[in-house]
Amino acid sequence: MEGDEGRRRRRRRRREICANSVVVFFFFHLHAAAASRDSFDYGEALTKSLLYFEAQRSGHLPHDQRVTWRGHSGLTDGLEQGVDLVGGYYDAGDHVKFGLPMAFTVTMLSWSVVEYGDAIASAGELKHALEAIKWGTDYFIKAHARPNLLWAEVGDGDTDHCCWQRPEDMTTSRKAYKIDRENPGSEVAAETAAAMAAASIVFRESNPHYSHLLLHHAQQLFEFGDEYRGKYDVSIPAARSYYASVSGYGDELLWAAAWLHRATGREEYRRYVVDNAYALGGTGWAVNEFSWDIKFAGVQILVAADSKLLMEGQRLQDRQKSILEQYKARAQDYVCSCLNMSSNSNNVGRTPGGLLFVREWNNMQYVASAAFLLTVYSDYLAMAGNELHCAAGSLGPSQILSFVKAQVDYMLGSNPLGLSYLVGFGSKYPKRVHHRAASTISHKVDKSFIGCVQGYDKWFVRRRGNPYVLIGALVGGPNAKDQFKDTRDSYMQTEACTYNTAPMVGVFAKLHQLERHQSLT
Ligand SMILES: *[C@@H]1O[C@H](CO)[C@@H](O)[C@H](O)[C@H]1NC(C)=O
Repeated sequence: MEGDEGRRRRRRRRREICANSVVVFFFFHLHAAAASRDSFDYGEALTKSLLYFEAQRSGHLPHDQRVTWRGHSGLTDGLEQGVDLVGGYYDAGDHVKFGLPMAFTVTMLSWSVVEYGDAIASAGELKHALEAIKWGTDYFIKAHARPNLLWAEVGDGDTDHCCWQRPEDMTTSRKAYKIDRENPGSEVAAETAAAMAAASIVFRESNPHYSHLLLHHAQQLFEFGDEYRGKYDVSIPAARSYYASVSGYGDELLWAAAWLHRATGREEYRRYVVDNAYALGGTGWAVNEFSWDIKFAGVQILVAADSKLLMEGQRLQDRQKSILEQYKARAQDYVCSCLNMSSNSNNVGRTPGGLLFVREWNNMQYVASAAFLLTVYSDYLAMAGNELHCAAGSLGPSQILSFVKAQVDYMLGSNPLGLSYLVGFGSKYPKRVHHRAASTISHKVDKSFIGCVQGYDKWFVRRRGNPYVLIGALVGGPNAKDQFKDTRDSYMQTEACTYNTAPMVGVFAKLHQLERHQSLT
């Protein structure tokens, strides 16, 4: 992802680079009331969403790689530090491997399979979903080289973002950054623990040995993150301009413990989630945003929906029961605010076209993560035979799902522009995605080296659409007025990130299953 201060600096540099080029802007024009009532093929969306993760692969690509315009890249990652860090994912349109968002991506892919694995399997996509997770967890196993050491970034945004280059040509720094006891980083240690714990559930049946291995890493990483507490972006300043942690590490520690409880059912993790609820903000924060940074809503819904926790609830002391109830109340607050049914001004905003709107920059990530949490919450309500009670009224699970479907339909083209924000879906979608690899001729077609600045001059500023369709990428999406500018330099709108698409894997699977069984009211 492009980052804040570093980005402002880079934009200046980039303008210098592009000073002699004519940049033509393409706007999609709003047609009045173009929102169609089409029904979408969620199965197709699911299939496409999983292809996207293959386009984001770093490292040595396998023979069955389906995104064939990509090649091997980052093959010396870690070499400078004497460690093998080949593999993993590029987070967005650049080539830095940022540990925190990569881990969050894998947690959300895994949560998708934990909840909707059957639906994904019946759509014939389980193999691809497992491969997408394993591409991340194989890398985390390498990166977690010692119990109290995790490599948490390869490459740096400042040099990378001065370059518009194919990953296969990379000439930028591939320096690796680590956290350890002296330089702690609880957010990234705990998020990686959450990812590996969630993935251990995914692989429990198909690959028990691998599942055990992941759980072992997850437990060690959680202990490391908890025992040696510190903000990761202090220990790794290179991450600060791009993925600074605003919420601190309290949410990640609770999140990791909740996932470890889900994976093991062990009392110590339940106790951690309950006993640290106040100290780490689990029951105090009602935040309307669920993202790679801020996970309180995710923790609250995970706790609310964890049947093991609820069953054990019978045997708990009143104080502990009350804390679990507070988690559930905050989960409910989050869902109510997404549905515009909170009492206060705590409701999530919406565009005139009805899309949830949190902020201009990559707003679609919040829509995707909300769609996922609401889907999980709706299933939990249905299972418990409950309703959602908000200040503005009560709703049943199917009404929550209808809202999710409306958000997803907006995403797929039922919006004022009639444009799908899932790239490669339908006939109209962004053609100038801010993505180095997709916007530059494949090295398989043209092997001649393309330098940093040369890439800007020749490919970035080009008016024409990208030579390759980044199928399954979910871009940042429209602004607060449902407008969208399809240009490569409009990175707030045209850049896609792995954590945008990851939660949609579960949501698409659920909607696909529903379409096949019944029609939503
Ligand atoms: C949200 O709720 C407020 C207060 O009830 C209402 O005025 C507003 O129109 C609602 N917004 C949407 C998008 O439904």
